[in-house]
Amino acid sequence: MQIYKVGGAVRDRLLGRPVSDVDWLVVGATVEKMQALGYRPVGADFPVFIDPKSGQEYALARTERKSGRGYGGFVFHASPDVTLEQDLIRRDLTINAMAEDQQGNLYDPYFGKKDLDQRILRHVSPAFAEDPLRVLRVARFAARYAPLGFRVAPETLELMRQISASGELQALTAERSWKEIERALMEEQPQVFIQVLRDCDALRELMPELDALFAAPQDAGMHTLAALEQAAKHQQPLNVRWACLTQALGTAINAVNQRFKAPRECQELALLVGEFQAHCHRAQQLDAATLLDLLQKFDVYRRPQRFEDFIAACEMDARGRGGEDYPQGDYLRGAVAAAKAVEVKSLVAQGLTGQALGAALKAERLKALEAYTQSAIAQRN
Ligand code: CTP
Repeated sequence: MQIYKVGGAVRDRLLGRPVSDVDWLVVGATVEKMQALGYRPVGADFPVFIDPKSGQEYALARTERKSGRGYGGFVFHASPDVTLEQDLIRRDLTINAMAEDQQGNLYDPYFGKKDLDQRILRHVSPAFAEDPLRVLRVARFAARYAPLGFRVAPETLELMRQISASGELQALTAERSWKEIERALMEEQPQVFIQVLRDCDALRELMPELDALFAAPQDAGMHTLAALEQAAKHQQPLNVRWACLTQALGTAINAVNQRFKAPRECQELALLVGEFQAHCHRAQQLDAATLLDLLQKFDVYRRPQRFEDFIAACEMDARGRGGEDYPQGDYLRGAVAAAKAVEVKSLVAQGLTGQALGAALKAERLKALEAYTQSAIAQRN
C-alpha cells in the first residue's frame, strides 16, 4: 500500500502558496484494510476515509465512469489494482493531477509541473467532460491564479465550450454551483471568473441575464465586471460582491438569487442594491421624506451593517465607473445619525404608546432629516 499527497496541496506547495487542506491518495488498499487501520469511511458508497487523528482525507485510488446525466450519474471503481496514473488521469487539470510520495518525490505523469511553470490551466484528458462542474472550477482557478499570470489553454476552453453547448451545465445542482460561485467571488480577481465563463459560453447557460448585459447599450456587462473588480480590491465581503455582480439585472435579480439558492444575506442585499442603488448615487439630492423612507426600508436602526454593505456595494459600482471618492456614503451616514438622534424616551414620557408612538417617532425623524438636508444645502452654497 502506497500513500501519496495529491491535488491542491501539491499544486500550491509548488506555487509557494499556503496549503489549506491536504488530500491523500491510497494505492493498493481495500475498504476493509483502511477500516482495519482505523480510518473512518465518510459515506457508505464512496471510497473516501478520514484519519480520525489528523482529520485529513484519504481516498482509495479509483477510476470513475459516468453512467448518466447529472452528479448522481457516477460509477466508481476502487480496487487495489487501480494505479496512481489511472487515478490521476480522471482529474480535472494537469496542475491538479500531480502526486507526492511520503519521501517528497513528485509523480507527474501528465506534465502538471510544466503547465504550472508556464502558467497554463489545461485539462488532463477527455475525462474532464465527465463532471460539468469543472467548467466552473477552471473559471475559479483562473480567477485565483490570474495575478500569477495563468490562462486557460485553448483546447481546454474549447472543451468547456462543448460542455456548455451540451446543456450539461443545466444538470448541476444549485448547491454545487453556488459553492463554486461563492469561492470564485472571494478570489483576488473574481471578474476573471465571469470573463472565463463568458469566453466558453457557460455564462449564457448559467446566468443568461448577465450574459445579455454584454450586448446591452453602455456596456453594462463590462461595467459589472469593473464593479466586481473594485469590490475585490477593497476586500468587500461576499454579500457585497454578489450585489455588485447582480446589481444591473433589474427584475431578474430574484430569479438569479433563487437559481443558485444564494444565502439569505446575499439575496437580501442584491435585491436592495438593485432597487435603491440610484437613490444612493443621488443621496445629496434626496428630500427628507425619501431619505426617511430609505432608512426605514433598510431598518437601519436595527440593522446598521446591512446599510453599510449597501453603501459599499454602491460605492464599488461608482468606482467601477471611474469615480475616485464617494461622498454619498458619509452623507447617508450623517442622515442615519440625525434620524437616530431622535429620543424615543421623551416621546414615551409624553404618554405616547403603540401606533401613536410610531407615528410621532417618524414625524420627529422627518424633522431631524429636514434639518439635516437643509444644513447640507446651506453648506454647499
Ligand atoms: N477534482 C477533480 N474534479 C472535481 C473536483 C476535484 O478532478 N470536480 C480533483 C482535483 O485533482 C483536485 C482534487 O480532486 O485537485 C481535490 O479537489 P478539491 O479539494 O475540491 O480542490 P483543490 O484542488 O484542493 O483546490 P482548492 O484549493 O480550491 O480546494
